[in-house]
Amino acid sequence: SSYTIGLIPGDGIGHEVIPAAAQILSAVSGDKTFDFVNLDAGFEHFTKSGTALPEKTVSTLREACDGALFGAVSSPSHKVEGYASPIVQLRKELDLYANVRPVRRPRLENGTAADTAPLDLLILRENTECLYIKQERIEQTPEGQVAWADRRISERASRRIGQKALDMALARYLQRGHATVTIVHKSNVLSVSDGLFRTTVRDLYAQRPAAYQPIQLNEQLVDSLVYRLYREPHAFDVLCCPNLYGDIVSDAAAALVGSLGLVAGANVGDRFCLGEPVHGSAPDIAGQGIANPIAAVRSAALLLHHLDEHAMATRIERAVDAFLTTAAPSALTPDLPGGKGTTQSVLNGILAGL
Ligand code: NAI
Ligand code: MG
Repeated sequence: SSYTIGLIPGDGIGHEVIPAAAQILSAVSGDKTFDFVNLDAGFEHFTKSGTALPEKTVSTLREACDGALFGAVSSPSHKVEGYASPIVQLRKELDLYANVRPVRRPRLENGTAADTAPLDLLILRENTECLYIKQERIEQTPEGQVAWADRRISERASRRIGQKALDMALARYLQRGHATVTIVHKSNVLSVSDGLFRTTVRDLYAQRPAAYQPIQLNEQLVDSLVYRLYREPHAFDVLCCPNLYGDIVSDAAAALVGSLGLVAGANVGDRFCLGEPVHGSAPDIAGQGIANPIAAVRSAALLLHHLDEHAMATRIERAVDAFLTTAAPSALTPDLPGGKGTTQSVLNGILAGL
């Protein structure tokens, strides 16, 4: 049998890491085949064609693809008429309501220092609302301009991400005998909006005491969460976050494992999965062949899990971990300490360990 996988490299290093991830998929396919369809999206495409997310990309994903991989897109920091970030749009269009971001560091072979201890966090980021509804406007006042942004927190979206967090925590409990979900919020200030997020997830947990009994439910204000994450990362397990906090906490957590170039993500809905590394288009290193492909490769593994191809996914994850723990530091890409390798050399290292 075969899978049709949409590939949306986007901009910048997306063009370097997505082909690498596709190569890994082909290498583990065994008696299955992956048919890849290249699809356009991003700022480069916008400057050429006037559209950032062509209708054909969305319809192909909807009608012809079993899953997809997205690289990253460059979004300017000023308003560009007619441009909106395609990934934010895609998550909404395909109702990919959960952004699943495992932040992992394998046990290092000779590591004894605390900073080489293994780490295995799972960040769940609500993916459809919060400030990302982009309802912004300018008001002229006698004191000058005032900018407003609406923030949407709905019971439905909070329940869906909370459900995902609890379900994934249960699966982790079955694997390792313990699981904690921490609700990340700022209800001390935003008692209405974050308050709804917090109570919705708490209620969900309280409604099924028998089912969720093995899971511990905690909560932490987002600012002190980041603080504690650096001081005692092992105190946390599954983090359940509204959209903006999840975005920021993910990049912060990536620093704990050494690089954004290592952290995978998957945009997940009830039917579809779009693998997408946590990092962006990295214009500072784009085109140099030195982007770390591991985040994208791990995102491909998350996509395989979603397709129930767990054996293939595990093969990839083990090969990546083996590479990270046994390769000489100089074989890694330069985002990691001592790294002198390239996208291609890291890819070769992973391929060799499959
Ligand atoms: P970024 O994640 O692109 O880069 C941050 C830093 O991490 C840079 O120094 C970069 O070189 C490094 N880095 C990131 N991924 C790496 C990898 N795979 N290998 C080695 N080094 C890596 O974040 P930044 O610079 O804030 O944003 C750049 C552009 O990316 C912006 O236009 C932003 O809008 C876009 N972006 C897009 C995202 C998406 O499409 N999902 C997500 C985040 C940012
Ligand atoms: Mg981000």
